[in-house]
Amino acid sequence: MTEPLESQSDSKSRITRRAVLGVGLATATGAGATGYAATRYLRAESAPESQEHPESTDGDPDQQYHLTATIGELDVAPGETIETWLYNDQYPGPELRVEEGERVQITVENDLPEETSVHWHGMALKDANEMDGVPGVTQPPIEPSDEFVYEFDVAPTGTHWYHSHVGLQLDRGLLGPLIVEEADPHVEYDREHTIVLDEYLASEPEVTSEGMGMMGGFPGAPPYDGTLVNGKLPSEPDTLTVMEGERVRLRFLNAGSATTYRVAIAGHPMEITHADGPGVEPVEVDGFDIGMGERFDAIITANEPGTWEIQVHPLGEEAPAGRATLQYEETDDEEPRDELSGSQLLDYSDLRAVDSLDQYDGSPDYTIDLDLSSGGMMGGGDEDEWTINGQAYPDADPLRIEEGEHVQVQVTNHSPMRHPMHLHGHHFEVDGALQDTVTVPGHMGQRTLNFVADNPGDWFFHCHNLYHMETGMVRVFEYD
Ligand code: C2O
Ligand code: CU
Repeated sequence: MTEPLESQSDSKSRITRRAVLGVGLATATGAGATGYAATRYLRAESAPESQEHPESTDGDPDQQYHLTATIGELDVAPGETIETWLYNDQYPGPELRVEEGERVQITVENDLPEETSVHWHGMALKDANEMDGVPGVTQPPIEPSDEFVYEFDVAPTGTHWYHSHVGLQLDRGLLGPLIVEEADPHVEYDREHTIVLDEYLASEPEVTSEGMGMMGGFPGAPPYDGTLVNGKLPSEPDTLTVMEGERVRLRFLNAGSATTYRVAIAGHPMEITHADGPGVEPVEVDGFDIGMGERFDAIITANEPGTWEIQVHPLGEEAPAGRATLQYEETDDEEPRDELSGSQLLDYSDLRAVDSLDQYDGSPDYTIDLDLSSGGMMGGGDEDEWTINGQAYPDADPLRIEEGEHVQVQVTNHSPMRHPMHLHGHHFEVDGALQDTVTVPGHMGQRTLNFVADNPGDWFFHCHNLYHMETGMVRVFEYD
């Protein structure tokens, strides 16, 4: 890594430091993937029109959805199908779309051979801890052939998602986007697309050992077979249509279980406008890294007619890259172009929340240092465990806080791997932005998170690498 190139739009930058877009952005064409015909998924094709503010009610839901978790089939290539677990037989699961201020009711039916539950990742669930979907913590699991009705007020606005919170079920495909449309977005755009990133795993998920060598093995994901962008392998990529002159909002969601992705759009710089739902002051970049569970919304200006690659490269993983195609209307189908717009890579410190951060000012009432480690290192626990302060969940002490407290958490990563840490039921302030998931870099990387304990309950705080969560990297914040 050398010096960053100049930003193309310095008027927007409040940038203290930026990394350079690395080498990992080769085209995905040679990815060794076979053809892939995805089952249908829902995707909004246009921006919200409504300017209404529906009032929140505690009464009837404004929107109702039904999700059935089933064994389904995914056509990964002509004549080649894998059996996996899906919502409503779709991958990604149906996009649930609600408006700011609404109340939603979602009935989840379990047609799986195992118990399940659904977590609404990014939702504050104000006064609704029992809707958080963590079995054994906020609800009993949903038994096979049974159902559970979730109901809550949607907040905050933005790009969120839902997924199974039982075992390794997420890595089979039990996930989908949950979009809360802003009544009055802080940025303008003409059209939008949702872009779901995920690993392609042809076999069943199981905990294996990653990162061999001097450090020994760490519990981790099995080797992946490819990268899915909106459910498609790069040999037959999803096509996102734009029209010349439009501003297009792209909602990126990393639904992967164990992979950080580096994303860039050939020919088009992006304005990052939202992080984990809430708005940020637009910052122009040519690419960004997105950890498991994270969301970034980016607006591009469609002023380079043609056909371009959206490139999705797994960081530090062997799996082949993924891609989607950005296609201008009225251009002929052609091989997508892959030249990048530049090399500015987003840094967390570039992000500035649009919402006020006043409540995080001043000294915290409760501080805690959390050390991320593995049992195989000196972290306590066993070799096949990931630990926080030497304890592997469920053999881990709850973190008792009090309602109303300003809580400050300093996370230090003693391992060489990244850990995307996610807090349920709250957005936290980190480095000037409001997020619900933040990646803590390896080799003593640190992040300091601030949140206000304004929603009593038992809230999971965990690594969103599913294989790290499953092997212990979890604590629960408790308050009433
Ligand atoms: Cu998206 Cu506890 O998870
Ligand atoms: Cu982790």
